[in-house]
Amino acid sequence: MSHYREGAVCLQTGSGFFRKDSRPSRDLSVLLAAHQASEAQRPLRWLDLMAGCGIRGLRWGLEACPESRPDLELWLNDADPDRSSLLESNLQRLQGVRGVSLTTTNWAAERLLRQAYLDQIFFDLIDLDAFGCPNALLQSALAVLRFDGLLVLASTDGRSPTGHDRRAAVRHFGAAARAHPASWELALRLQLAVLAREAWQLGRGLEPVASFSEGRTFRLVVRLRQRLAADEESQLGLLARCERCGDQAVQPLLKLSGWRSCRCTDGQGRWAVTGPLWLGPLQMPAVLAQLLKLADPQLDTLSVAGRLLLQRLQRDCGLPVCCWSTAELASRLSLAGPPPLEELVQALLSAGHQACPSAVMTGQLRTDAPMAELLQQCVQHVAGDR
Ligand SMILES: C[S@@+](CC[C@H](N)C(=O)[O-])C[C@H]1O[C@@H](n2cnc3c(N)ncnc32)[C@H](O)[C@@H]1O
Ligand SMILES: [Zn+2]
Repeated sequence: MSHYREGAVCLQTGSGFFRKDSRPSRDLSVLLAAHQASEAQRPLRWLDLMAGCGIRGLRWGLEACPESRPDLELWLNDADPDRSSLLESNLQRLQGVRGVSLTTTNWAAERLLRQAYLDQIFFDLIDLDAFGCPNALLQSALAVLRFDGLLVLASTDGRSPTGHDRRAAVRHFGAAARAHPASWELALRLQLAVLAREAWQLGRGLEPVASFSEGRTFRLVVRLRQRLAADEESQLGLLARCERCGDQAVQPLLKLSGWRSCRCTDGQGRWAVTGPLWLGPLQMPAVLAQLLKLADPQLDTLSVAGRLLLQRLQRDCGLPVCCWSTAELASRLSLAGPPPLEELVQALLSAGHQACPSAVMTGQLRTDAPMAELLQQCVQHVAGDR
């Protein structure tokens, strides 16, 4: 069997599921662990709940834990019994690592989480790298996450939150999901809304640390807080878009009232409403900046793609909520091509609006400018570009 190298580890990936392309998400998981190890003053326990070949847990042990910390418990689990010998052999590398104790299991995730709760075992970091929709596991994962602990979550359920399977969106998210040019972002916001509700049911608060997707996997990192922040409930709301004129409007659930008219002048426009979704920030730029500083070139912790991802996310906290595709705006105006994104952002900022390029989808910007002004700026910038 051939060996695969990533960061400081060299291991066998076996015949089960493994994607080299997911490396940026693993780099992020390792850096979050390293950040926690550098800050927390208590013993730490990290859980790789769907470990596959064990690469995340192995990288945590070899890259994220300074020798000065003699108190790290690593738990690695994968339900597939055919994975256990591969997992054992890959993890041998951790046997001699001082201060790291290892628990491996072949349990269904649901069983491990519920057993941990019964045994009152709590984790500082849980990486839940799931196939499909992970929502059935969220309540039990959050219930065994320590205060200020991190949940690193993946979902490959793209169809329901992007409006392609509206019935499944109702089942999985308890939400309406409609097609939208910023569909990846809306999918992340729908997932955050489910996470927030699960945390709130437990009386806890939630803070997004990182949110991103390449269209196939939707990835989030959230921090569980002991209590809700002031007015945290107003982060849940609805986003409406008119397919005919492209206009958008947002309302928090707490202030829900009728919708204003869209820009359709003949009164024939119709809002397609998505939500409840998370209306708050998507990234924590200050934490992402610290992670970039922590990356150890000697351990090769951060790949080029991982660095680019973190740098991109760091520049866009995820507010304001409304995202606009420059290609769509250009086509509505019958322009030859989209306006230059950075110039458009600068013009909107100069006009006193909030604006920045979206870190979630390329060719999009987020702004609080009304659509009429956005269209006007597009015309000026494409004209000025000629
Ligand atoms: C996306 S892969 C994990 C990949 C790995 N984290 C990585 O970075 O390479 C998902 C893994 O979850 C395991 N799995 C699927 N359903 C599970 C469940 N209910 N409980 C525990 N493991 C499960 C599968 O056997 C598979 O190895
Ligand atoms: Zn309209």
